[in-house]
Amino acid sequence: MATTRFDASGPLQGTLHAPADKSISHRAALLGAMGDGETTVEGYLDSADTRSSLAAVAKVGAKVEGASRDAVAPELRITGVGLRGAAGARIDVGNAGTLMRLMPGWLAGQAEGEWTLDGDSSIRRRSVDRVADPLRQMGADIDHESGGLPPLRIRGASLRGIIYELPVASAQVKSCLLFAGLSAEGETRVVEPEPSRDHSERMLAAAGASVRREGAAVIVESADAIAPGRIVVPGDISSAAFLLAAAAIVPESDVTVEGVGLNPTRTGILSVLERMGASIEVVPDDGVGGGEPIGSVRSRFADLVGTEIGGPEIPTLIDELPIIALIACFAEGETVIRDAAELRRKETDRIATVVAALTAMGANVEPTEDGLVVHGGGGGGVGGGTVRAEGDHRIAMLGAVAGVASADGVEVDGMAAAAVSYPGFEGDLSSLQAW
Ligand code: S3P
Repeated sequence: MATTRFDASGPLQGTLHAPADKSISHRAALLGAMGDGETTVEGYLDSADTRSSLAAVAKVGAKVEGASRDAVAPELRITGVGLRGAAGARIDVGNAGTLMRLMPGWLAGQAEGEWTLDGDSSIRRRSVDRVADPLRQMGADIDHESGGLPPLRIRGASLRGIIYELPVASAQVKSCLLFAGLSAEGETRVVEPEPSRDHSERMLAAAGASVRREGAAVIVESADAIAPGRIVVPGDISSAAFLLAAAAIVPESDVTVEGVGLNPTRTGILSVLERMGASIEVVPDDGVGGGEPIGSVRSRFADLVGTEIGGPEIPTLIDELPIIALIACFAEGETVIRDAAELRRKETDRIATVVAALTAMGANVEPTEDGLVVHGGGGGGVGGGTVRAEGDHRIAMLGAVAGVASADGVEVDGMAAAAVSYPGFEGDLSSLQAW
């Protein structure tokens, strides 16, 4: 695989617009397909992962206008097939774990039809038992390879609502069951151990579904139809996090990212940065973007200290833990991340890949069962070396940010993986250096 070099940089400066939110884009494609009539999606993310969702909904009969295999227009139109009108198909989810876990919820309750969902080598290593088990409890006809591995086969069946207590907080599993609940008899109640991102709830409610929260439970009622109408996709805080992190660790930097989704179930990274002593200023925009709060976030270089991260904070920053671990290398003292065993189930085992990446650059970091411990080197940060992305977009971007903040520069092996969530990442990062 080709390597890309990121050299130590002077101050990063400038203002950028965050790329569109990946989680919300996947949901927009699916809800558009599940809807009656036409849904307009403004600002759908043009990335490999979210193109997989558009291809998937087209396969089951939705009409997608404004997107081809290689490009997505600023405004998409999706004509849905309705909640129970999906045509049988073989679906390639590519690298998209969110698509792999959300779409079965919709398909399982179809009156008829058969679907196979499969994906790339990373998807084939990631178990789908967390969605298959509760869907079966609802009456779904679903099977997979041993160990809960894809391909996943689904035949349409009558579903009934259940009460399901999630063993670990997971917005993907919650969303899958809420989608299934729309075509199940009665109501479906999903109980979360800790709140996870609530985009599905917001979007379903906006599309006319009956969804409510009662304490730790999210309840959805059976529906005949939904109609999303218009969906506006805010910027992705998980992508913005890489730019904000770079500004926090490259001396004299001052970077603003605009249009960032500030849903409180996603903003854990900002609290952690503040706790570490970073200079973060959030200016909320007036009104909201598509039912989600948005705003601009300014990050400036500061001296950082280590922190502890665990418990209910984890679901609010689960995808940001790799970049937080890098920031911790630049902080004084120890940073402890715990209660994050979920990291082992992501695009890669992110406890292993983060430790490997940071160690390769000379950092002092240890894996634990459910997280990791970073022994920060203060302003010294990381030296240099080669980071293997292992096909994981967030590890590739971690390597690039490490490079610009490093002493000796970093080679990233497999930078192309960034296109899974943030195709313009390299250009955006280098535009902050062009001062
Ligand atoms: C996602 C939820 C998270 C996150 C993933 C996207 C979503 O997964 O890691 O990148 O869109 O719902 P889990 O909630 O399953 O941990």
